[in-house]
Amino acid sequence: MVKQAQERAKTLQLSDQVTFQVSDAYDLEFPENSFDAVLTVFVSQFLDPLRAYPGFLRVLKPGGYLGINEMYRANEIPQEALSRVEDGEEIFREITGLPFKLRSPSIWREAFEKSGFRDVIIEEYSNIVQKNRTLSMVEEFGGWGKLIKTLWEMLVLALKSKKLRRRFGMISRGKRLLLRDNEVSKYIGYILGVGKNP
Ligand SMILES: C[S@@+](CC[C@H](N)C(=O)[O-])C[C@H]1O[C@@H](n2cnc3c(N)ncnc32)[C@H](O)[C@@H]1O
Repeated sequence: MVKQAQERAKTLQLSDQVTFQVSDAYDLEFPENSFDAVLTVFVSQFLDPLRAYPGFLRVLKPGGYLGINEMYRANEIPQEALSRVEDGEEIFREITGLPFKLRSPSIWREAFEKSGFRDVIIEEYSNIVQKNRTLSMVEEFGGWGKLIKTLWEMLVLALKSKKLRRRFGMISRGKRLLLRDNEVSKYIGYILGVGKNP
């Protein structure tokens, strides 16, 4: 991941302005008041925010912001759709070994506020799977060449390893449950959330 980020920074001629470092979200290795902003993109949903966000607040300068882009589920969901959501969550917990959880927008807000953030804004965007996004997704991935090469490598690995085949199967089942089932996906989307270190 760090290597990819460094390559991307190089392509964008930003290498002299950025550094990349891996750290545990529950135990950030930075002094307090270090940053103007902390961002998570599809990471907070794999964390316990009430454990991680007080640490994010600690490393933010006064007036700095935490911004998140994460999945949400609606507050009210019919029982049948809810049990499929819970099955999907369980699959991603099993694959990752992490406490993956879809929270409602009000629970996301609560996580910010209970951790000490103020001026919290949570915006909801339903329907996480956008139609007609295929071409721009291929472009974001690095083009058709890179996509086909990666798919080929994945296929070769899957053919060699039963464990990997099982894992790919579970990912596909989890995605089918949470994103491709119209009766479920209408209750799921993503939020953009922001909160200020007072
Ligand atoms: C779905 S990935 C998102 C990655 C990235 N946002 C992207 O778009 O490629 C979730 C990431 O959360 C990271 N993660 C989970 N728990 C973590 C923790 N305690 N500290 C740091 N990273 C964590 C995992 O390593 C994984 O890379």
